[in-house]
Amino acid sequence: MKIVVTGGAGYIGSHTCVELLENGYDVIVIDNLSNSSFEALRRVEEITGKKVEFHNVDIRDKSSLSGIFKLLSETLLPLSLKDNTAVIHFAGLKAVGESVSFPLEYYNNNITGTINLLEVMKEYGVKNLVFSSSATVYGNPHTLPIKENFPLSVTNPYGRTKLMIEEILKDLHLSDPSWNIALLRYFNPVGAHKSGKIGEDPFGIPNNLFPYIAQVAVGRLPFLNIFGNDYHTEYNREDGTGVRDFIHVSDLAVGHIKALPKLFTNCGVVTYNLGTGKGHSVIELVSAFEKASGVEIPFKIAPRRAGDIAACYADPSKAEKELGWKATRTVDDMCRDTWNWQKNNPNGFRL
Ligand code: NAD
Ligand code: UD1
Repeated sequence: MKIVVTGGAGYIGSHTCVELLENGYDVIVIDNLSNSSFEALRRVEEITGKKVEFHNVDIRDKSSLSGIFKLLSETLLPLSLKDNTAVIHFAGLKAVGESVSFPLEYYNNNITGTINLLEVMKEYGVKNLVFSSSATVYGNPHTLPIKENFPLSVTNPYGRTKLMIEEILKDLHLSDPSWNIALLRYFNPVGAHKSGKIGEDPFGIPNNLFPYIAQVAVGRLPFLNIFGNDYHTEYNREDGTGVRDFIHVSDLAVGHIKALPKLFTNCGVVTYNLGTGKGHSVIELVSAFEKASGVEIPFKIAPRRAGDIAACYADPSKAEKELGWKATRTVDDMCRDTWNWQKNNPNGFRL
């Protein structure tokens, strides 16, 4: 079985490639390396002892994309593409703040890129797709934990691209029920592969909590700003900091492996939350990281960050029931593996 992985050199993509290869799939990565390094894929090969086919292509470049699928159809002959391939679509831009400043770039990359990909898939009869969606599509939920049937709303262009793509995919399936599509809504992916060879390597100053803490721990940044300790809903802890459902990236990667067979049951469009079902506060995370690393994380309490919500965690029971998937790694595992990655690679993939 061949799996085309768009954005496969990125953070979640590279971890998913490891799981795919270890589960016997052939992996074809399409990535323009706009937010990643080829080194990540080299290390995926090192971890698994298997080869990755790589194409340095932008998914908005339709003729190059088409060329990859043409080659794929020829190499698979006499097997059909429909029954022997699927696409996992990670490629896209993902920074919320940046999307507010550069909405056209976000719509162009995420929406145009996805439409191109879908057109080429349709042309070659590949109609099995796993799409990276996000808990951001739930906006500010009224109650927790969040179930898949909660109302959807978004507050920024990045989130809107995710919701629009979900809608586009539902329309596509309505027009042609032979499409099988899994919409995976990730909560807060963190951590790194246990080998310490791959992990999150953001360009510039990190926006997200975990890579920020890791860079403070390793001395690249002086201290952490904690955005608000005055959240006092029934879901927040006494420390008043934000609560999130942090999920180990390797558990998330396994979620994709579990979603693939579902596509081949003629499932239509299915939606799953990928989270642990547990919320942890920012302060709890800082303490867990200090314990795992043995390094003190200096922090300052700063004002709330615009657009942040007080608390958010998943009800992941649908994925457990229908896919047999459940996150198994703890917050301590997430901190240990992040630290292992960061201390062995203080400058990420840049040697
Ligand atoms: P990432 O930036 O590490 O990976 C995305 C990859 O896509 C990168 O390697 C980048 O070079 C590539 N890419 C971007 N635009 C492309 C294009 N036009 N053509 C080809 N390649 C392109 O991000 P990630 O954290 O691994 O996220 C993967 C997916 O999961 C994204 O769609 C993201 O929106 C979604 N997601 C991420 C999170 C998170 O917290 N990391 C949460 C929810 C959803
Ligand atoms: C962010 C995105 C969300 C995306 C998710 C995926 C924003 C506003 N939202 O979610 O759309 O789906 O990533 O992982 O960017 N924090 C600090 N100091 C920091 C960084 C973060 O205190 O330097 C706090 C935040 O206020 C929040 C928590 O840590 O309470 C988690 O933040 P972050 O890692 O950025 O993720 P989200 O905001 O949950």
